[in-house]
Amino acid sequence: MKLMIIYATIEGQTRKIAERIAAHAEEKGHAAALMNVNAAQEFGLEKPDAVILAAPIHAARYPTPFVDFVHREKDWLNALPSAFVSVTLSIDSEHDDERAAAANFPEALKAETGWRPKAVHNAAGALRFTEYDFFKRWMMRRIAEAEGAPTDRGDVEFTDWRLLDDFVDAFLDLA
Ligand SMILES: Cc1cc2nc3c(=O)[nH]c(=O)nc-3n(C[C@H](O)[C@H](O)[C@H](O)COP(=O)(O)O)c2cc1C
Repeated sequence: MKLMIIYATIEGQTRKIAERIAAHAEEKGHAAALMNVNAAQEFGLEKPDAVILAAPIHAARYPTPFVDFVHREKDWLNALPSAFVSVTLSIDSEHDDERAAAANFPEALKAETGWRPKAVHNAAGALRFTEYDFFKRWMMRRIAEAEGAPTDRGDVEFTDWRLLDDFVDAFLDLA
């Protein structure tokens, strides 16, 4: 099967997730094409057999170019088997309401755009204190504190790669 993976990323973790999805699909014998959402807009798209979109939440929003892309392309996305990987920090929160809020971001995206992915995975992202500027570091320490996540200046990856692989396998079976 020809699988297309289209991602948005600000700090790089969702690109890493998208790369893992592509590598895993290829290991399973599929052809995978990986594309940043910005390139997808620039060059147009050759339609695949199935598509997985991935995007991170920053300040309670998916990146605007990603939301615009989903809005604009929803008709062909809805015509194919499609899946969504939503990347947040709060899906791993120690607080129930924060985890529920993280799980609701994909629902809000669906309602806003009319896209109907067949499967949704909420993946935990990463904290990259060594790469943040002063303002981001300050903001992320506050967010991490509220989530019960580490607040020192090191980098921490929360993504569960095994869960991600299982999600991709289940979606490819479905597609
Ligand atoms: C400035 C900033 C704001 C963020 N806001 C949120 C948020 O509102 N909710 C959340 O769950 N995670 C939030 N995060 C965590 C990101 O979703 C997480 O770091 C993710 O790995 C980022 O993906 P990316 O590296 O692909 O950009 C934020 C991260 C940054 C740097």
